[in-house]
Amino acid sequence: MKILMVASEAVPFAKTGGLADMVSALSINLAKLGHEVKIVMPRYYSIDRSKLKQLPGALGVPVGCGGEEWSGVYTTSMPGAPSKKPVQVYFIDHEIFFGKDGIYGIPSEPDFLDNSRRFSFFCRAAFQLCRKIDWYPDILHAHDWPAALAPVYLKFAERIPASAGGFEKTVSLLTIHNLGYQGIYSKDNFAYMGLGWDVFYEAGFEDWSMLNMLKAGLYSADKINTVSPNYAEETKIQAHGFRLDGVLRYRSADYSGILNGIDTAVWNPAKDKYIPQKYSAKDMEGKAKAKEALQREFGLPPNAKVPIVGMVTRLTEQKGVGDLFGPAYGSAWSICRDMDLQMVILGSGDPWCEYEIGSLASRLSNFRAKIGYSEEISHLIEAGSDFFLMPSRYEPCGLNQMYSLAYGTLPIVRRTGGLADTVENYSETSGSGTGFMFEDLTPSAIYNTVGWAVWAWYNRPKHIEAMRLRGMKMDFSWEQSAQKYIELYEKEIEALD
Ligand code: ADP
Ligand code: GLC
Repeated sequence: MKILMVASEAVPFAKTGGLADMVSALSINLAKLGHEVKIVMPRYYSIDRSKLKQLPGALGVPVGCGGEEWSGVYTTSMPGAPSKKPVQVYFIDHEIFFGKDGIYGIPSEPDFLDNSRRFSFFCRAAFQLCRKIDWYPDILHAHDWPAALAPVYLKFAERIPASAGGFEKTVSLLTIHNLGYQGIYSKDNFAYMGLGWDVFYEAGFEDWSMLNMLKAGLYSADKINTVSPNYAEETKIQAHGFRLDGVLRYRSADYSGILNGIDTAVWNPAKDKYIPQKYSAKDMEGKAKAKEALQREFGLPPNAKVPIVGMVTRLTEQKGVGDLFGPAYGSAWSICRDMDLQMVILGSGDPWCEYEIGSLASRLSNFRAKIGYSEEISHLIEAGSDFFLMPSRYEPCGLNQMYSLAYGTLPIVRRTGGLADTVENYSETSGSGTGFMFEDLTPSAIYNTVGWAVWAWYNRPKHIEAMRLRGMKMDFSWEQSAQKYIELYEKEIEALD
């Protein structure tokens, strides 16, 4: 199959979260299964052009009413893809739209004012790219709101006969990675998108007199999915649907959930290049070494007996940081004050939260934090911690709980989205389970569940050992998930025929 991934992020080129990991890992694994995969993404300012190859000529991209704008194209191949089936990555270069710092925004302009135009242009350019390289995909796989217009253009402008240079044999899939971000802008931006006003209503752009890019994509894509089966169910109800639950119910026959995998070449304690000593379920000595190194890294007294609770996260409301660090004494304060544990966190995000974390670290001797982004320290936290905390308010899939399980670090999670699909709650009576779970969205639920884990640490060490090993044996490799995407693509192609 020929598969085109349309995405705003892909590691190692641009990343703000798990979306970037997923797009690259899925592409590589589809190539390993023998498929021809290409990725198209914007050439952000931070992506060094001198390391890429420029395609001769330019793309003329239709915009507005009969207008055209130009973009350059750069390309390189995706590292880690099989040499016999390379994954080619194409970068859409447009100085005004993408030649600025930031992917979606910068601190002084968190959501760039021209984002609807930046990403609609990008989606339309994807089709011109295919024409330029004379490569027409069977599957157009778009990710999240920035790519959501690709299925819209396919359905309302590009699904024309192949003899006229069209995409009549292409089907689309739109994957939701995060329903909390939809690309909602003033409808004044619609004129630029080059679709008639009838399409504004027919494609489902309309959203209380605004323009909603994700919503249009969800109406228009041939199939839609999200990154865990449980999140697919949750989003069909009002509490989790971010106002699009109605659309998702309407499309439920075409809507499913496929759990993400993890990159087992990178997130694997037996191969990890960032930890002092590699380890596996058979020989856990390296985990103790990682714990020591983690304590040193964060300036905590080295002590094998005290449990460490780790976190690596974007500091945003989605991740439950309000309940944990909220100014009215979120639970982190009382957890560290009352319990015999150490807590370390690596993260960046909302300024209020970065500030509160700094202030907490100055008041508590067993709480340490690093504000920023570090691949290396994130590996050390996964390996060196005993527990990993994810009190997410919602979590479409979540990667860190799967990394934690692979590293013998027990997740403490809210039972939501992909967390509910991947973690099994501890039973004190039988000792079964792989982590500790809670339901409520309250600081006290987090406090009580961390307390429960710490109690088990000191009082049920055999259970803790058995749980660690159980988690380490689980298989979250991408092969299975990539296979499920193939099955979904095949169904779509059949339906078109
Ligand atoms: P989301 O995409 O919602 O942020 P995921 O769990 O899917 O959540 O993915 C987050 C990814 O980003 C993980 O690979 C995680 O380790 C990484 N990450 C988040 N914050 C940081 C940070 N400050 N430093 C290093 N890695 C981080
Ligand atoms: C989003 C979600 C996260 C998911 C990731 C990759 O960023 O918040 O839960 O794991 O996308 O699909």
